[in-house]
Amino acid sequence: SSRDAVRIVEVGPRDGLQNEKKVIPLATKIELVEKLARTGLKTIEAGSFVSPKWTPQMANSSEILEYVLRNTPQSPTPITYQWLLPNVKGFDNFLKLWNAQLSTGQDVYPTSPPSPGPEGGQVLNTSSKDPNVMPSATSGAEAMGKERASSSAGSPLHEISIFTAATESFTQKNTNCSIQESLKRFEPIMWKAKEMDLKVRAYISVALGCPYEGPDVDPHKVAELAVNLLEMGADEISVADTTGMGTAPKTAKLLKTLDAAGIDKHDLALHFHDTYGMALVNSVVALEHGIRTFDAAVGGLGGCPYSPGATGNVATEDLVHLFHSLGMPTGVNMEELSEIGEWISAELAKSNESSAGKATLAQ
Ligand code: HMG
Ligand code: MG
Repeated sequence: SSRDAVRIVEVGPRDGLQNEKKVIPLATKIELVEKLARTGLKTIEAGSFVSPKWTPQMANSSEILEYVLRNTPQSPTPITYQWLLPNVKGFDNFLKLWNAQLSTGQDVYPTSPPSPGPEGGQVLNTSSKDPNVMPSATSGAEAMGKERASSSAGSPLHEISIFTAATESFTQKNTNCSIQESLKRFEPIMWKAKEMDLKVRAYISVALGCPYEGPDVDPHKVAELAVNLLEMGADEISVADTTGMGTAPKTAKLLKTLDAAGIDKHDLALHFHDTYGMALVNSVVALEHGIRTFDAAVGGLGGCPYSPGATGNVATEDLVHLFHSLGMPTGVNMEELSEIGEWISAELAKSNESSAGKATLAQ
């Protein structure tokens, strides 16, 4: 039944590519997004607005956003695109392009949280007379305003993702600040996003093991952070096993701890990396705890630049095969997805890391 439908957040174009040492042509990145959009996937994290000194591979994400805004990639269902950013500078860079579409005319950050208003928050004024504004028939403005909740047209939606981590060492290595400082950085982003009716996803890295502090990360720390981020206004928390150190018992313990902290399972996504080959097992544990949103990267691409030795995300093909085997619809075409995994692996001169993808193609 549709009650058992699962939502997959395809993070291949961002998490999958960010760690590649060789420069990947912009055309290849765009082709990846376009191909993924056609498979039935509904959410794609397409790039990040981080410092190019820290993660050079993502330096042309703005061009990917521009492309998506100008040429809505074809898709059987409307796609939500997510854009990762660590600070106001990244959000500004995102908004520059976004505002070229929306023309809110003001790029000012609120200095305090928005006062609680009617559900859905403030709707943007999209009827700008500014001649510089692109025609908005397929613009995100329409999608964000009128059709925010139930988009039936082909207009893509856009969301942003912020990220912090469950350990101080990882937060320092990844974003050059403490956990507390990272939360402070998010406040103006969160307030501005609320004002714009833009959804915010928040990642918590190293939730099941840290490359610097070891495999035993305190689940209560993860819960405390998740509660904090939700109270700040995050719409979803993606709990990330950055290092792949997660196991079935650890995953169960973490999910129980999050539940005990009062966190609604519908506000959670799980983000597994498959470094130890445990991602599918952990996904089943998460399913049993009622989690229905999972991050994955086609072909098992990926690795975090600040997590030495961490390999790819769980392959999207493997997750889709798992969910389908359990009778849980994903809306994703397995054959098409498997071909993309094979294609992008060849483009990157890497081996295809998806068992289910390779098996599907061999049939
Ligand atoms: P910093 O060096 O402390 O930043 O880096 P700063 O504020 O001192 O600025 C230094 C320079 O960077 C300045 O430029 C800024 O303008 C520029 P300069 O004056 O020297 O020419 N700058 C930026 N440029 C573009 N976009 C920006 C930006 N911010 C500053 N947003 C910072 C701090 C947070 C920026 C840096 O540490 C950073 O970018 N970190 C991101 C690293 C990253 O990409 N990590 C991978 C993504 S997270 C992940 O993969 C985990 C996840 O998948 C879940 C999981 O599996 O765990 C999500
Ligand atoms: Mg990741």
